[in-house]
Amino acid sequence: MPTFSSFNQSTQQAILHGPALQPPPGYVSNFDNPPNGEAGAHAVILLSITLSTAALLIRLYCRWILARQRLIADYFFIIGWALFLADVVLAYNPTTVPVWFVHLWNIRLEDYITYLHNVFITSELYLFSVAFLKVGILLDWIHIFAPSGTRNFIFWAASITIFVNAGFYIGIIVANQVACTPYEYSWNKLLDGNCNRAKTPLATSIAGAFNIASDIVIFLIPQGVIWNLNMPRSRKIGMSVIFTLGLLAIGTAILRFISSLRHAASPDFTYFFTELTLCADAELTFGPVVRQGPNKLVFTSLAALRDIYKSDNTTKPNEYIALGPRLTIPTVFIAQDRQLHRVRRQLIGQAVSERSMRIFEPKMLEQVDIFLRRVLKSTQTKGAIPSKINMTESARLLGFDLAALLAFGYNLSPDKARQQFPFLTVFRRLRSQYLSLVQNIITSRIKEDKDAHHDLYSIVADHLDQSKPGGIRQSELWAEATSFLPAAGDTTKTALASIFFYLSQNPQCYNKLANEVRAKFMSGRDIRGSTLTDCHYLRACIDEALRMSPPVPGILWREGYADRQPFMVDGHIIPPGVVVGVNIHSVHYNEEYFPEPFAFRPERWLDDSKTMGDAFMPFSTGPRGCAGKAMAYLELSLVVAKTLWYFDFESAPHGPGQTQSDERVKTQVFKLLDNFTASHDGPYLVFKQRENLCKDLDDVHGGL
Ligand code: HEM
Repeated sequence: MPTFSSFNQSTQQAILHGPALQPPPGYVSNFDNPPNGEAGAHAVILLSITLSTAALLIRLYCRWILARQRLIADYFFIIGWALFLADVVLAYNPTTVPVWFVHLWNIRLEDYITYLHNVFITSELYLFSVAFLKVGILLDWIHIFAPSGTRNFIFWAASITIFVNAGFYIGIIVANQVACTPYEYSWNKLLDGNCNRAKTPLATSIAGAFNIASDIVIFLIPQGVIWNLNMPRSRKIGMSVIFTLGLLAIGTAILRFISSLRHAASPDFTYFFTELTLCADAELTFGPVVRQGPNKLVFTSLAALRDIYKSDNTTKPNEYIALGPRLTIPTVFIAQDRQLHRVRRQLIGQAVSERSMRIFEPKMLEQVDIFLRRVLKSTQTKGAIPSKINMTESARLLGFDLAALLAFGYNLSPDKARQQFPFLTVFRRLRSQYLSLVQNIITSRIKEDKDAHHDLYSIVADHLDQSKPGGIRQSELWAEATSFLPAAGDTTKTALASIFFYLSQNPQCYNKLANEVRAKFMSGRDIRGSTLTDCHYLRACIDEALRMSPPVPGILWREGYADRQPFMVDGHIIPPGVVVGVNIHSVHYNEEYFPEPFAFRPERWLDDSKTMGDAFMPFSTGPRGCAGKAMAYLELSLVVAKTLWYFDFESAPHGPGQTQSDERVKTQVFKLLDNFTASHDGPYLVFKQRENLCKDLDDVHGGL
């Protein structure tokens, strides 16, 4: 067959000016105004450029300007985006004639050669761009899921995928460059030359399949972690969706693959290649995904903890108002105004101060005895097997009974409504049930003499007049009560349940603590707040449980005061309107501060470590830190010490599982569901009386 070079010049000119493909029967070539899909293709390209540019700019704004943090991944995304832009711009107008969805018989051969040259260059740009974007995403996975040198599954899976992808794309780019001899033969088949196997349709199909497979792997890598997170299913789905906008990239990669198979079988290259190019543009558009809310920043450093919570420059943002009923009326818990908060805090603080606790302690001891009698009852079953106790339930009753007594001298125990104490609920019926209980509590207290009990009311009563400085209206007192009861009851419930959980799971710690308590006292009646202060191992166990299962486990959001001045967090300027916080749970599990964070090791608290102390924040810290810390420690210490004095306990044989195995460690964590405070179940324990010590408890009546 004669080659192109064997023709004379005028024949060559005629061929070059002729159609690149002979028109099918019944068609005539139309070079000047061929039917085309330019408008639609241009719209897709413009949309791709706009979306990818917007995504990149939002990402850079969040990272570089708001978070003041530059990651290597950012540079990969910038390079990937720039290559994508170059690819699109070149593909946008490869010749002066229309080519988008134009049949090959409507294009002159000479224009087609120019077009193929562009295709050759843009294909290489596409491969470079995909490689940079994929590596960028994988580096991000490592940054998010395997911080500060952690060598977990995500680290290894993402690292291996980076190397495989980089190797594959570099290999394919190089293979394209050396596939044809001479080099120009890659796009100009009129020359005398040939190409090796890298240019066959099979090689193209393998490359397409690899592209889809690697997209799927990238999508799957973080899913395990997201689905193992301790959060409601709806939130997991939400997070999963955010992390998998990349699914759109997979979808477009699959379309591109199908399109490449179709074009491999067709001689009408320009028409089908348009489809392929548009799919590739869409695929690259969904590469750099933005994953951070533009006005919410989460920090992890100790400096941030100090700047956010110890500072007088921050206050609680509007998010708090959505937390519960009656929270539209400012209370100590949600007050945004600095002065109002200070006044309320002073008022409430008097009820929960250490001094107040010393006065309140006898009442607390009565309630602890009632709790112990409930435990005793579980051991006095008719059969040989003692009944098991769900510690979440027992701790909840004790926590709310104590809260109601301290707030309004109110004995909740006969009140059926305490079975349900749904403060943070979305159900209207339960909310109004709760609010009417609070109303009952307050109304019956107001009928009594102010000094009938040592309680919050006896302190606040003198201020129940708004005309006085620092005065408080009755409606405001009700609002305070609605948040005070769960602040005191819900949190101690979680703390108690988790302490019992960890002790039942760690026999060595259990024995050490039991020995400490049993060696120190002669009788259960000797166990009081003042006599427990030198039980260091007891305090260590409490702190370790609070570290591993903090009763307020999430992010306590803060923002700058309404004077709208920017403020600093860990060296970064936080502009007005940006909400910041530190996640308590993740700081408590940061191995930089707490080595072997998943191990229950109370011993870590026996040495004085400043860094550990600074990173320990179950009660938060600073002016908005917990007001009831003294009461919490008193209650927890008394309950644990007294229980260990009178009883031995262990996990119930067939109790429902309340443990959560973490793939990174072999130990177990008490499972909490974060809903500002925490929901949980268990541990289910069986108790055994120690000798005949429990006769002490017999003189305590009622309250069960
Ligand atoms: C283990 C038990 C407890 C834990 C872990 C705990 C934790 C916390 C935390 C993290 C905060 C800060 C919330 C925020 O910034 O939004 C807080 C605030 C508060 N807690 Fe506690 N708490 C506990 C027990 C108690 C008790 C027993 C009381 C009352 C007797 C109480 C009363 C308060 C009050 C009034 C505030 C609001 C302080 C303010 O905004 O100025 N807490 N608590």
